[in-house]
Amino acid sequence: MTQDLMSMYLKWYELSVHAVNDYRVEGEISRELIEGLVLSGMGGSGIVGDVIYSLLYDKVDIPIITIKDYSLPKWVKKGWFVIAVSYSGNTLETIHAMTESLRRGAKLAVITSDGKLLEYAKTYKIPFIKVDEGYVPRAAFPLLLIATLKILEELNLYNASKFYESLGVLNDNKIMNVADEISNFVGNSIPIFITNSKYYPLGLRCKNEFNENAKLISKVEVIPEWGHNDIVGWESRYSNVKAIVLNDGSEILNYVWKHLRDYGHEVKNVEINISDDYLTNIIYWSKVFGISSIKLALSKGINPKETKSISKYKEFLKHSKLARINFREKM
Ligand code: PA5
Repeated sequence: MTQDLMSMYLKWYELSVHAVNDYRVEGEISRELIEGLVLSGMGGSGIVGDVIYSLLYDKVDIPIITIKDYSLPKWVKKGWFVIAVSYSGNTLETIHAMTESLRRGAKLAVITSDGKLLEYAKTYKIPFIKVDEGYVPRAAFPLLLIATLKILEELNLYNASKFYESLGVLNDNKIMNVADEISNFVGNSIPIFITNSKYYPLGLRCKNEFNENAKLISKVEVIPEWGHNDIVGWESRYSNVKAIVLNDGSEILNYVWKHLRDYGHEVKNVEINISDDYLTNIIYWSKVFGISSIKLALSKGINPKETKSISKYKEFLKHSKLARINFREKM
């Protein structure tokens, strides 16, 4: 029997522990010095790249970029390392980025549960981690994240042991109540998430969850840029827009939520620092907001798991010119 979406999120602790204990890289990751790191992936898989970018922003002395597109910048070449993440393994953008990386002689690793990415990884002897099948990409977030961390550990770029030791937060018994509070707050509104660059991946994740699970338009805004344009839009009043500030306690985010409140907007200030470990905060709040978007969908009789428009878009891509480029010819 296929699992419902809520059950998948409720298993995040068990899934995470399983990934930490059991995931291994198949094949050998080259330990040669790398000149730069690319994280390629779309949607629920691509978010992992955003998290890693912010995690390593002030920790490593090589450039890191996330690619959510078919092509790579010209300066990604031999000497760079590309991690291609696609839960299904069949996402066209990620397949193209992977092919292009191979053609340019970059080193690669693949994270997937199946599909063409797995097939190509085996055929072209690309190191890979095969994550568990049977989930939807956004619900497999802990699996994809931990698999990526395993690659970073092999590359000596990060040691995630502190995060692994904190996974117990996923069993916190406050999660359901906080998720209820958030879904009640959002109700029929368009939720706008506001946070800082460091927590942009969390803001994006929350926006994506309300898009995909609750079938709502939702947006994310990031300070300090927000203070130079979007802030002015909040001088007007809207009947169905609400702000959710993902507040890590910084002076500027404390300013932002009070500013919005003083302008008469409905704003929820969420204090997100439950730990001093970045990844722990990310996974904890991803679970809370994921569940709150599922609860909102269920309260409206909406199926949170189904994403018909994404399937339709992927169907269109399958028959587009981009899909006709033959992988083997490109090699
Ligand atoms: O959450 C989702 O279902 C989507 O955002 C997918 O992650 C996205 O379409 C990319 O697919 P995949 O993760 O299989 O590469």
